Amino acid sequence: MLKSFVLFPIVAVLSVSTQAATLPGDAANGKKLYDASCTSCHNDSVHTRKDHKIKSLEGLTEQIHNCEHMTDVTLGKTQVNDLVKYLNETYYKFK
Ligand code: HEC
Repeated sequence: MLKSFVLFPIVAVLSVSTQAATLPGDAANGKKLYDASCTSCHNDSVHTRKDHKIKSLEGLTEQIHNCEHMTDVTLGKTQVNDLVKYLNETYYKFK
């Protein structure tokens, strides 16, 4: 009885961190990219507003490409992964 009380939180914590780790990319680098290339048109409030548009990881990736086309910045696959990871971990929390 006591054992399952002790084990449950450990299992819960482990499964959460495994999920976050399955996304490729580097969130810290994503934040740097975001601050450098993305804040000229909007700040992070677009991601937290109540009626935000993005509903999935695919949608997030697509929107990053749409925004990329509006800028002079060209993002490589690694950079897009970093941005997806940063925005997902910080705001969207899609699985
Ligand atoms: C040239 C201006 C511009 C730049 C630069 C820009 N965006 Fe955007 N972004 C927009 C506009 C416009 C919207 C749509 C706002 C709306 O629909 O109300 C948007 C919306 C978004 C959304 C959707 C927010 C939501 O959940 O509703 C994401 C995600 C996003 N941008 C990511 C980025 C990233 C990452 C970058 C940097 C690579 C970036 N944007 C740079 C103009 C820009």
